[in-house]
Amino acid sequence: MTTSRRRSLSTARTGTTTGPARVTVDLDQGGDIINRHVYGHFAEHLGRCIYGGFFVGEDSEIPNTRGIRDDVVAALRALDIPNLRWPGGCFADEYHWKDGIGPREQRPRMVNSHWGDVVEDNSFGTHEFMDLVELLGTEAYVNGNVGSGTVQEMSEWIEYLTRDDDSPMAALRRANGRDEPWKVPFFGIGNETWGCGGNMRADEYAALARQYSTFVRDHAGNTVTRIAAGSHDGDLGWTEELMRVFGDSLEKSPERRPGPFQAISLHYYTMTGPWEDKGSATEFTEDEWYLALSRAAHLDELLTRHSTVMDRYDPYRTVGLVLDEWGTWWNVEPGTNPGFLYQQNTLRDALVASVHFDAFHRHADRLLMANIAQTVNVLQAMILTDPDSGALVLTPTYHVFAMNTGHHDAAALPVHVSLPEEPRTVDGRELPLLSASASTKDGRALVSLSNLDASEPRTVVLDLRGAEVTAHTGRVLAAESTAAHNTPEVPEAVAPRELTAIRPHEHGLEIDLPAASYATVELTLG
Ligand code: AHR
Repeated sequence: MTTSRRRSLSTARTGTTTGPARVTVDLDQGGDIINRHVYGHFAEHLGRCIYGGFFVGEDSEIPNTRGIRDDVVAALRALDIPNLRWPGGCFADEYHWKDGIGPREQRPRMVNSHWGDVVEDNSFGTHEFMDLVELLGTEAYVNGNVGSGTVQEMSEWIEYLTRDDDSPMAALRRANGRDEPWKVPFFGIGNETWGCGGNMRADEYAALARQYSTFVRDHAGNTVTRIAAGSHDGDLGWTEELMRVFGDSLEKSPERRPGPFQAISLHYYTMTGPWEDKGSATEFTEDEWYLALSRAAHLDELLTRHSTVMDRYDPYRTVGLVLDEWGTWWNVEPGTNPGFLYQQNTLRDALVASVHFDAFHRHADRLLMANIAQTVNVLQAMILTDPDSGALVLTPTYHVFAMNTGHHDAAALPVHVSLPEEPRTVDGRELPLLSASASTKDGRALVSLSNLDASEPRTVVLDLRGAEVTAHTGRVLAAESTAAHNTPEVPEAVAPRELTAIRPHEHGLEIDLPAASYATVELTLG
């Protein structure tokens, strides 16, 4: 986040041009830092995300470390995932953490009423999650229970996790086999409290958020960013009600760490139909391709609108906006449990992700974190595992995350896109068929280019200004069809390859992008 009132430099203005598309990048104008946490993840007790996805138990034939799948850990380590949110989602507001500690065989069971009405045996609990966090080399985002939990329960959880002396909860943690406290930098104060998290009104929840946050203490040098359960889609009123908690205190100093919470969340899912029929993940028309991408691109406007409401109370942008659920939500795969939200993942999902990332980079001044829903086997997953063979598949979305690691903690660069044609009108909004963003770090720049045109390749002139470029490399993610996806039988139907169609141009570089493709160009700066 910035500490100034300056707008982010990373505005992707779009204009018109004759000739090929032009993407102008000011390489010497690094602006706000793109927080690596916008590449965050989310794992809920939902369907086969935790059980079967991350956790198979020590006795499984699938190679594991203390029950956690080695192949899933290795795949996610390659993405350098910055944080993992757990245990929900809607599940968070019916989860009682003390049921998930101590000897597994003695842990009480519960009903996971939101997701399939299945019995949860609590075999994956706090210690297992923190073990997973350590194996992944990531940071914990623990989501507490406001909807059906108490202030004391939440207060004791953070004490259990992070306190290092002989306090009651630290002693209980030791009795359960863990001496050292863990670090928990992020803690959620409930989830979707306007819905599954308690069906509250905004003013009711705002009062509870103040109260619960107060008791999520910083123990033993662990500094928590408390994230209030925020709005969804275009509900600006909820954001406003939460910001009112701060009164005029945030006007006073760009440096002050505000309380009682330090960030508020937002949820935004991409779908092409109503809840009853959200559309198939793999069988869609060209119109549905554009509809999905238009709805993904709409996130940029939503981030601007929510951030503008926040600006009224917080002109220095000291309160973070956390998009802790985003991604595509399609009909479940035929024959699978409707409560498990298992869906395939195509090139369309990859482009939805790349368009989101461009928006994240443009909003680096306010966006503290984002978490795709969800990491394994649920909604827009990075990884799908076969329930029978256990085989693991990396999705097209995984590959976009992999191609974008260079944007983590890099400075966003101003980008200007000029297209020879008018934007396409989709769903009453304008959708330019090229999306772009760029960042710089450590003497390099990374440019992201998404050709959203379902059927036409595109030549792009990269107009590179403000620095000498001494070398370049490119990667591209494309496939034979927009619905291409990976399976255990064909695991690389959609996989990145070297982008060879890059030529020197008098203004920088000229690049040929296949139809429906995502490309990154890495530049070495002189
Ligand atoms: O990600 C699936 C669900 O979507 C989450 O549990 C909930 O927060 C949201 O409605």
